[in-house]
Amino acid sequence: MTATFPRTDKPYDQSAWQKGYDSQRTELAYEITEIDGTIPPELNGTLFRNGPGLLDIGGTPIQHPFDGDGMICAVTLKDGRAHFQNRFVRTEGFVAEQKVGKPVFRGVFGTQKPGGFFSNAFDLRIKNIANTNVLYWGKKLLALWEAAEPHSLNPENLETKGIEYLGDILQPGDGFAAHPRIDPASIWDDGEPCLVNFAVKPGVPTRIVVYEISPEGKLLRKKEHKADGFAFIHDFVITPNYAIFFQASVKFNPLPYVLGFKGAGECVHFQADKPTKMLVIPRDPNGGEVHALEAEAGFVFHHANAFEQGNKIIVDSVCYQSIPQVQSGMDYKNVDFDALDPGQLWRFTLDLGSGKVTRELLDSRCCEFPVIHPDYVGRDYRYVYIGATHGETGNAPLQAVWKLDLKENQQQLYSFAPHGFAGEPIFVPHPEGNAEDQGWVLMMIYDSEHHRSDIVILDAQNLEQGPLATLHLKQHIPYGLHGSWTPELFVTF
Ligand code: CO
Repeated sequence: MTATFPRTDKPYDQSAWQKGYDSQRTELAYEITEIDGTIPPELNGTLFRNGPGLLDIGGTPIQHPFDGDGMICAVTLKDGRAHFQNRFVRTEGFVAEQKVGKPVFRGVFGTQKPGGFFSNAFDLRIKNIANTNVLYWGKKLLALWEAAEPHSLNPENLETKGIEYLGDILQPGDGFAAHPRIDPASIWDDGEPCLVNFAVKPGVPTRIVVYEISPEGKLLRKKEHKADGFAFIHDFVITPNYAIFFQASVKFNPLPYVLGFKGAGECVHFQADKPTKMLVIPRDPNGGEVHALEAEAGFVFHHANAFEQGNKIIVDSVCYQSIPQVQSGMDYKNVDFDALDPGQLWRFTLDLGSGKVTRELLDSRCCEFPVIHPDYVGRDYRYVYIGATHGETGNAPLQAVWKLDLKENQQQLYSFAPHGFAGEPIFVPHPEGNAEDQGWVLMMIYDSEHHRSDIVILDAQNLEQGPLATLHLKQHIPYGLHGSWTPELFVTF
């Protein structure tokens, strides 16, 4: 593939970007003292982040970052001061592999044990790497990975307690998605908050399990639904009445995986000529009708939000024209961004009356990891915050934070290019705020110039003025996946 413009014109240098995928083996806990700007004194609580901390096992590179062992970071903000700590999740696989210093398990996304075919064939043990999200709910800190059970951690020092069955909500071997949605005021629970999450159970037929869990961690509702064909569903959205799933048309051919040639993720093939199915499952504990709709093909990892409008449901999602396919034998660090379809923010309108779906591109800029104000989950809303590319067109690493005003069709962007690389923003509401965008946006930025990571705090109403505070960490943190905020404090310093 030929780049569409010379490398020197790019807002980033690919070799600088690659260094953000160096493994981080060091676990630290310290007060952050190198700070530019001022941490707002009203911003008190804990930011948790999860992502792959190791991109190699004893020197053997993993083939895809999604296979990297989960490492949790916790940033405590209190009275204008900040504390940082990071720790690996001591999963069974992490402990076993660190003991022998080499891969013992196969990764879902193609990382093979050394020894090729004979060593990998028929080895279907999957390593629960606990690397996708981290969330404090029901007085438990949970590290999530969708294909297996959560791990629970001590929120004070991030020590791993072990596999977590959430009381008896989960059984050994159950999955639990890495994308819970928190309904801020569930109509089924007298307006109390409620965590809604799901699991995809492979089989014939595929089943989608929807769990609803109280703030105390008790199971409120559990429903199981059948889906046609193979389902690769990473995220979903909720409204007061529904849980909504996009099931892209993918074909799974497990044979190369079973025989040991490929990772399971490499055996998933996106079918661009087949429609995406949209499953609208009622949350009503007394039943209700499941709606199955279809729309033009496209692949969605992450949704921003959904809301009801009469008999219609609006869903805003980051959609790719084709799935960023896992390719055998390709080094992810040498990915040709120009050859990849950008993820773009689309608005889907699902008409439950006619069964028709329409869609509209909200903006063509490449983006990923959308977040919103937590009180607007499932409700009509105005603002979305999202990681974005520096340039307006094409695919590239995320280097900016972007805010879209969906009502007034306005936007703000702040870019960390050329040395900074971004990930998921987290919106934290101001404790006394009334406006939807009154609060802060927190982000972890990899500073390739100094090979370390920064925590940046921006005023959500004025992103363009740049960070209110930049907290320089002592080490770099490899590019992460998801995180969350809680006003709770666990660390004294
Ligand atoms: Co995700």
